[in-house]
Amino acid sequence: MPIVDVHTHVYPPTFVELLRSRTSVPYIRNFPDAPDSARLVILPGEDDPSMPSTSRGRPIGPEYYDIAQKIAFMDQHRIDTSVISLANPWLDFLPSEEAGEAAKKINDDVEEQCARYPGRLYAFGTLPLSAPADTVVKEIERLGSLNHMRGVIMGTSGLGNGLDDPALDPIYAALEKHEQLIFLHPHYGLPASVYGPRASEYGHVLPLALGFPLETTIAVTRMLLSGVWDRFKNLKVLLAHSGGTLPFLAGRIESCIAHDGHLKKHGKIENRRDVWEILMANIYLDAVIYSPVGLKAAIDASGADRLLFGTDHPFFPPLEEDAKEWHSVTTNYGAISTAFPGKEAAAEDVLGNNAVRILKLHS
Ligand code: URA
Ligand code: ZN
Repeated sequence: MPIVDVHTHVYPPTFVELLRSRTSVPYIRNFPDAPDSARLVILPGEDDPSMPSTSRGRPIGPEYYDIAQKIAFMDQHRIDTSVISLANPWLDFLPSEEAGEAAKKINDDVEEQCARYPGRLYAFGTLPLSAPADTVVKEIERLGSLNHMRGVIMGTSGLGNGLDDPALDPIYAALEKHEQLIFLHPHYGLPASVYGPRASEYGHVLPLALGFPLETTIAVTRMLLSGVWDRFKNLKVLLAHSGGTLPFLAGRIESCIAHDGHLKKHGKIENRRDVWEILMANIYLDAVIYSPVGLKAAIDASGADRLLFGTDHPFFPPLEEDAKEWHSVTTNYGAISTAFPGKEAAAEDVLGNNAVRILKLHS
């Protein structure tokens, strides 16, 4: 039985160089008060100059860019195959004229990393989303010629106006035509004001545990409301973190639609594919939710045959320096076995068979 990790990130060396050359978020820097440890500062709000540098962002070591360390992590955690993706914020921040070439370079680097470990690595490509739509479409077409690419990773900002932006239609059309799945992943969270004036006392908990999943949920709901899946019936999207909160809130989303006078007046309630249909036909969910409770909601909403194991490596390392096994990984393994009591075949599908089938791995 193969174990496949579909949610696992890398920053290829070219991207690390780019981050090292920058002084505003996102960047990598060795601060003067701790010159021997580099920090990766990527999230909005992580760059608060009133905080000591050791609290800004996270330490970054070779686990973020050395592909041999990815393989060692996979071996340590019994993972046969990983579908690697560039970590946030991807190329969202690049000037338009630089994005196309940067995406090519990164995708070629990642393809080459995959080729070095036959059968063990595949990837989701990166799109130059700050470039004009036709540059993005060309990269989608080029990705089809790279043997290890199995879709694209994307954040929620799209071309700058979110995923309900009609300007994305040519991109959705190209992804649908070339049967490339979108791995949709959060980065921006919610406005800092919702975390309150004491937020800096609470570390990364509010933005990562709540901001990330709500960002994903809002992005997908905007896609639904704007009719993306009515126009692109075969567009497939893998949602990070078991869909944010989408499985739990799907009923409320549909109820709010059914009770909205504005939508009714504009004829937007009838003749639409509802969220339940999209969850069962267009959406896949990863199993990165750390609890059987969330996992059961994901299974109820999308089906156990659409759920895929992931780790989010190299984020969430154990805080104990000598730990070999990562709690973040063993918690997800534990949640999967608890969610399927006595149903080993279903658990094995989530751990690997679903990914092999859906992403056409080993073919
Ligand atoms: N934090 C991030 O910025 N990205 C992830 O993928 C996980 C945690
Ligand atoms: Zn992630």
